[in-house]
Amino acid sequence: MISRDDVSTPALLLDLDRFERNLARMAAHVRAAGKQIRPHAKTHRCPEIARRQIAAGALGVACAKLGEAEVMAGAGVRGLLITTEVVPPGSVRRLMTLIAGAPDTMVVVDNAENVRALAAAAAEHGVVVNALVDVHVGARRTGVEPGAAALALARLVAGARALRLGGLQGYAGQCAHVMGWKERRAASLAAMTPLMETRALLEREGLPVEIVAGGSTGTYDIDVELGGLTELQAGSYCVMDVDYRRIGGRGGEMLTDFEMALTVVATVVSVAPDRAMVDAGLKAFSTDKPFPPEAVERPGIEYGFAGDEHGRLTPRDPDRAPRLGERIEFFPPHCDPTFNLYDRVHVVRGSRVEAVWDIAARGRSD
Ligand SMILES: Cc1ncc(COP(=O)(O)O)c(C=O)c1O
Repeated sequence: MISRDDVSTPALLLDLDRFERNLARMAAHVRAAGKQIRPHAKTHRCPEIARRQIAAGALGVACAKLGEAEVMAGAGVRGLLITTEVVPPGSVRRLMTLIAGAPDTMVVVDNAENVRALAAAAAEHGVVVNALVDVHVGARRTGVEPGAAALALARLVAGARALRLGGLQGYAGQCAHVMGWKERRAASLAAMTPLMETRALLEREGLPVEIVAGGSTGTYDIDVELGGLTELQAGSYCVMDVDYRRIGGRGGEMLTDFEMALTVVATVVSVAPDRAMVDAGLKAFSTDKPFPPEAVERPGIEYGFAGDEHGRLTPRDPDRAPRLGERIEFFPPHCDPTFNLYDRVHVVRGSRVEAVWDIAARGRSD
């Protein structure tokens, strides 16, 4: 048996008890709300985590990119939804190969030219492409405008022989981290209303809308209020991170509905009177947030990035200064890009390493 303390540092650790409770809580939540979940695998890029999410009742997983979906499909994961438009001709060809092997894969579209390219490629490859119309709900990223423009695109999809209209997707990413539950609820319901109206419009026009997908960890208990939404695509809930914890929950200052299951363990490799250095720096943690990693069981220790390989700890209490060789675990600021830095995650229950899972789609942003 490998112990938690034997793992070489820096390393990514997944607390299995917390992770399992997170999956069970989300499964119970969507069941009670009469909705489904297709969790976003962009968070973890790990087929074993995807399999466990599906075993806990998920429809499949969402993938941000085609490359991620290829890895998931290759690992036998089905029920894939690719949430970014697939546009380059080479990628369109790869998508057809993916669909030939995993025919229930879905892709989003927001442009007529892309719809025509997919339809032509699908006909050529003898496959049917399941497509959701990606509707812009305020994130100013992808998506066709709600209403008439979305209807026109949906008609184009429905009319193409090698395409199948599955429904709609609308991702209101701008609402995910709005601080305070009430404020977040108001923002998300307002942003998602045009998506619901678009659903009603398509149905009035006789177009099938089986699926309406959207939502995030921050709005998981808000978007279920929308009658027209069929499935959530929250991702981070399975492990959480510092960024999500601080947005606040329905009942308090912190979002504690899901537990912090992901840590990076580092070792103190150098000590000096005013500092202690750990072996985890820019290559060990995501760096896209304005706040640093947070020491789990060492309150009063502040982490500062000190280059590619190092972090500088500044102890406030000199009597509790870090010791040479001490192992310290940190919650990462942002889980998705932190997962993407590691080839594998060590899965721990208490002091035991129970498994090591490959983050097989790590780096597959293509
Ligand atoms: C398209 C899409 N859907 C859903 C999510 C929700 O993920 P999370 O719950 O981690 O915020 C994301 C996150 O970036 C996303 O890009």
